Parts: sequence; C-alpha cells; structure tokens
Amino acid sequence: MTRYTVTAALPYANGPLHLGHIAGVYLPADIFVRFLRLKGEDALFICGSDEHGAAITLRAKKEGVSPQEIVDKYHQLIESTFQLFGISFDIYHRTSSALHRKVSSDFFLTLHKNQAFVKQVSQQYFDETYQQFLADRYITGTCPKCQNPDAYGDQCEKCGSDLSPIDLINPKSTLSGLSPILKETSHWYLPMGDHETWLEPWIQEGHLDLNPQHNPKEWRNQVLGQCMSWIKEGLKPRAMTRDLDWGVPVPLPNAEGKVLYVWLDAPIGYISATQAWAEKTGKDWKPYWKKTEGKDTKLVHFIGKDNIVFHAIIFPILLKTHGEYILPNNVPAYEFLNLEGDKFSTSRNWAVWLHEYLEKYPTKTDELKYVLTSIAPENKDSEFTWSDYQQRVNAELADILGNFVNRTLVLTHKYFDGIVPEAGELTEGETMLIKRLYEFEPRISELMYAYKIREAQQEMMQIARMGNKYLADEEPWKKVKTHPERVPAILNTALQITRELARMAQIFLPETAKKIYGMLNLPADSWQSTVARLQPGHGISPAEILFEKITDEMVEAERQKLQPTEHLTNPKFPPMKDLISFDDFTKMDLRLGKVIAAQKMENADKLLVLTVNTGIDERTIVSGIALHYKAEEIIGKSVVVLMNLAPRKIRGVESHGMLLMAENEDGKLSALVSERGFEEGPTIS
Ligand code: 2FM
Ligand code: ZN
Repeated sequence: MTRYTVTAALPYANGPLHLGHIAGVYLPADIFVRFLRLKGEDALFICGSDEHGAAITLRAKKEGVSPQEIVDKYHQLIESTFQLFGISFDIYHRTSSALHRKVSSDFFLTLHKNQAFVKQVSQQYFDETYQQFLADRYITGTCPKCQNPDAYGDQCEKCGSDLSPIDLINPKSTLSGLSPILKETSHWYLPMGDHETWLEPWIQEGHLDLNPQHNPKEWRNQVLGQCMSWIKEGLKPRAMTRDLDWGVPVPLPNAEGKVLYVWLDAPIGYISATQAWAEKTGKDWKPYWKKTEGKDTKLVHFIGKDNIVFHAIIFPILLKTHGEYILPNNVPAYEFLNLEGDKFSTSRNWAVWLHEYLEKYPTKTDELKYVLTSIAPENKDSEFTWSDYQQRVNAELADILGNFVNRTLVLTHKYFDGIVPEAGELTEGETMLIKRLYEFEPRISELMYAYKIREAQQEMMQIARMGNKYLADEEPWKKVKTHPERVPAILNTALQITRELARMAQIFLPETAKKIYGMLNLPADSWQSTVARLQPGHGISPAEILFEKITDEMVEAERQKLQPTEHLTNPKFPPMKDLISFDDFTKMDLRLGKVIAAQKMENADKLLVLTVNTGIDERTIVSGIALHYKAEEIIGKSVVVLMNLAPRKIRGVESHGMLLMAENEDGKLSALVSERGFEEGPTIS
C-alpha cells in the first residue's frame, strides 16, 4: 500500500465554478482518488478555497462589499457545488481560517530562519488618491508587445505575455483611474536562481517513480517543457510579500501593512487543510507531508497549466528550503477547456456554471462527468459544446452502456425470474470474452497510475461496447426459440460483464455504478480482488433506466442561455447583476399607476406612504423616496409599479408593491414616469 497526498488547486473564492475548472482539475483528481481508494491505497484528497490576493479584493471592489463577504459567499457556494457534484474531498478547507494563518505564518518564519529570503527595496506603483501600493492586477495599461490597451500589470490576456507593471505603457490605477506614481517599498524575495542547480536535475529525473508497476514514470511533457523553459530563461527573484491589507500578515517586525504573497500562502493551504482534516478525524497529518514520518508518501498536485510554475518550481523550492517536507511526486497539469468556440470567461459570462447545471439537472452528474472526462484537456486544449454533450450521452451512455445493462437485466427477469442462471458450457468465443473481460482492470489501472484518465474511461466504455455487441450477435431473444439451451450461458456471461462494468465504472460514473450494483443486488466491489463473479442462483432486483436521452430542446435552451456580456463594466456604476431567465422576467407584473395621495411617514426620513391607483385597485405603497421627492411633488405623477411583489410591513404599514425608480451615479432617485400621457392601468411590455 502506498500513501498518497492528492491535492486539487485551491479555487479562488471570487466566483462560481464553471465546467472549465471542473474538466481540468477537480474531476480528474476525483477520479484518480476514487481509483486509489478502490485499489486499497491510502489516499488523502485535499482542497479548499483560496481566499487571499488581488483576485478577491478586486471582486470585492466590483461588488461593493468587503473581501470577507466575498470569500464567505463564494466559499459556501463552491463547497456546496463540489459536494453536489460528488467530488470526494477528505476536506474542503479555507485560507482565511485561523489555522491557515498560523500554519502559513510559522512556515514563513521557518523559511526566514533558514535564510530563504533576501530583503530588497524597489520602486513600485502607488495610487496617491487611495494611498495604496498597487498589486499587479490593479494596474492596467497598454501592452508593450501587442499594443492591447487593456493589459494587466502581470499579464496581457490578448497576446498571453507575462508582464511586470513597469512594462506597461501609460499605466493606470484601477482604483482611481489615474496614473500611479513610483514609490519605494521593501519586500522579501525568493532568489529562485540560487536553486537552479538542484531544481533542474530534480525536475528532469529526480521525480522518477521507481515502482516498476507504475508506468510511465515521467511528468507530462507540457509540464517538463514549461519548467525547463523557465529555468532556461534564468529564474529571477520573486517577491514573496505584498503591500496589501488582505492576506496573512508578514510575521516579522517592521512589516506593517505587508502580507504574504498569495502564491506563497495558497499552496501552504494544502498543508493547513491536511491539519484541519487531522483535527477533525483524530488522525495524524504528518505522514502525508513530512519526510521523517512519510518518506515514501507520493504528493500529487492536480492543477491547470497556468499554475505549473507555482507547483513545479516555487512550491518545491519552499518545501525544500523549509527542510521537513517531501516534494511533489507528480504535477498532472491540464490544458484549458473552451466553450462553444471561445474561451471560458467569467467577466463576459461565457460559461456553463456548474451550480446552475446541478440545479437544473440534479440527477445528471454522471452524464456531465462522462462528457468532461471524454474531452479532458490532458495534452491539448479541448472544447465543450452542448451538441457534443448530447451526442455522447445519447449515443454512448444511453445507447451502449445503458442499453446493454438494461437488456441484460430485463432478459434475466424475463427468462429466469431474476435469478442468475448457471453458465453451463461456454463457447470458445465466450471463454475468450471472459478472459478479455478481466484484462480490463489491469489495463485501466496502468493508465490510471500514468494519469491517462481519458483513455482509462475509454477502456471502461469498451467493456460496455463488448457487452452490447455480444448481445447483438447472440440475440438471446431469438435463441430463446431456436436454441433455448444457449440462453443461460449468454445471460450468465452478460451478467458477468455487467458486474465488471459496474466495478470499473465506480471511478468514472459513481452514481451509475451504484445503481447497477443496486440492480444486481450486490455491495460494491473493490479493485483488489481480481475476479468478482456473479454466482448462479443469486437474485437480482428490477431493472431501471440508467440514462435518459438528451433532447434537442435542452440543447437549444442551453445554447440560448449562453449570451456573452461585452463591455458591461464601468467603475462609476455598480456591475450588472447575474442574468435571469425570460421566465423570471415574465413573473413580474409591471403597470402604470397614478399617485393619488402621498404623505411623509412619521419618524422616518426616507419613507413616503403613497396611495396609487393602478387601474384595478387603489393600493398603499410605502416607498423610500422621501429624500428625493416631497409628498406634494409626487402626487399626480404616473409611475411604474411592480404589482405582484409580496406585501411587506414597513414600520407598521403594509406595503403592496413597489415603485420603480432609476438611480444616477450620485445616488439620486427619479421615478420612472410616463411622459406620453398614458392613463393608469396598462401593463408594461
Ligand atoms: O489559479 C488559481 O485559481 C489559484 N487559486 C490556484 C491556487 S493553487 C494552490 F496553490 F493553492
Ligand atoms: Zn499583449
């Protein structure tokens, strides 16, 4: 038994998860861990929210709330989404926790004691209006390489160049919109170049997995390639601290206003999460991380390709310099998933959000897992489209896997009252087929140990194809009349295939596997026993349909839902809220009404109590517009009324509906009034 610490990149708690995140990190990591567990390995699966850094503070600014509110909101959403999707973390922790603060501060102090850092003074951009140093993402300007006017201080998203804020032409602060000044500040830098001598051979060969059963023994080409190109360019010192008021404070004297660089603190989040798991379960965390207690533990980081340098270069340098920790055994990094011909983009709302998918299709988790694994961007970018989703679910899951299992079980009920028949004598072909059946497990295992998860799933699907073809060739529904003596052998064989299919499906399609085991009336099998056979005489349960066909309507509706929002941000105004459906919109009953009476509510500065004639009734509406309209000014005005808002008591007065107002950038409200002389009553459309 080997011990594995498997981590999945901590997602920033600054937005919901979309399918791109899932296909290229969390789903493959989950499949890998499910595999290890079935193999009887000791696998611990670690994740949590990454809650520091500019990604969070920028989002907070955009939503007009505090960073803590942002991380609380998204941590909860992300955690529950993972849970509903069945990602089987042993712990989902968070980096804003007190435990993480302690673990990462202590880690930093040990690094500092071990002289990991060099303190350096440099000139950095500073926003004079906001009296704040500007993190890279807070500076935009023109890219020196492609002239894109909206490049960020760390990267140009148009041409993909890595930049430093100093490179930008015409830099602007995103806080004030003004040109920042350069100001002196000091930070703790990691002189990465000093580590090249051990790092390069370690990356090239030091990671070799010496277990001859595990094949192949190398990191993915693109991971090696990226690492070697960084090293070839010469590793430059990188600041490990930042001037920010959100993060883990630098635990040293004279470091007020400075926090740990998010890319220092986030990977340490894997360690603090493991400690949180240990506290919760009463287990020991050290064998999963420390050299003395867990020398042979394999540390595996599942990440997206944009995280390679942090996990394959920077974090290993930190772990080694600390001295007590093991280094990663493998860093399976994924390329990117695109969506219907374009990149996923949170800001342009070009995404399929996992929580929305799960809300609409709570029982279709395996369908999505299957499709995402089929197109997993293991070696190159790949693409999700709804028509491909439909095609794979209908033609592969429903027509092949579902159809095979269903036929086998239905026919067993029909011909043998749901009792597994004796196989009797098998034909040569059947004997071969059974032999082949039990060769799938070692092949899938080999692919899994080599992180070839997409291929491994294809192999699992081959079992279903084999079974489907076998039934189609043998036609037991015909043989029952022509060669009835053959039917027990055929169904016994088909049932053995079904059981092996369920055994292999557990890692890719956990819900489906559970259903098949339920129908077979059996507990789940591990992957340790080599052969799990169904015994004659065993009674099975009724058959149920495993996969519903995906309709054209569903595909069309999902395509329609993808509406990119372009250029909808302006720092002067709050951002647009999340999209709602047309159905949500039509629920609102909006009408013109005439204000026929108004008076100020006593002891309430902002409230007017209005009587509004809506054409079908006269109703009381309490409206928070007293700072913008005097009672006498609003009387006689035609206003837009939201009629069917549930009544609410406001300061003891029941309010029925709401007046629609528009707010300008100074917060001044004006009623949406009719200028064309409509009478009260008409609905708005
Ligand atoms: O790229 C990201 O989404 C980062 N939040 C990943 C962090 S991985 C680890 F270091 F925590
Ligand atoms: Zn550029």
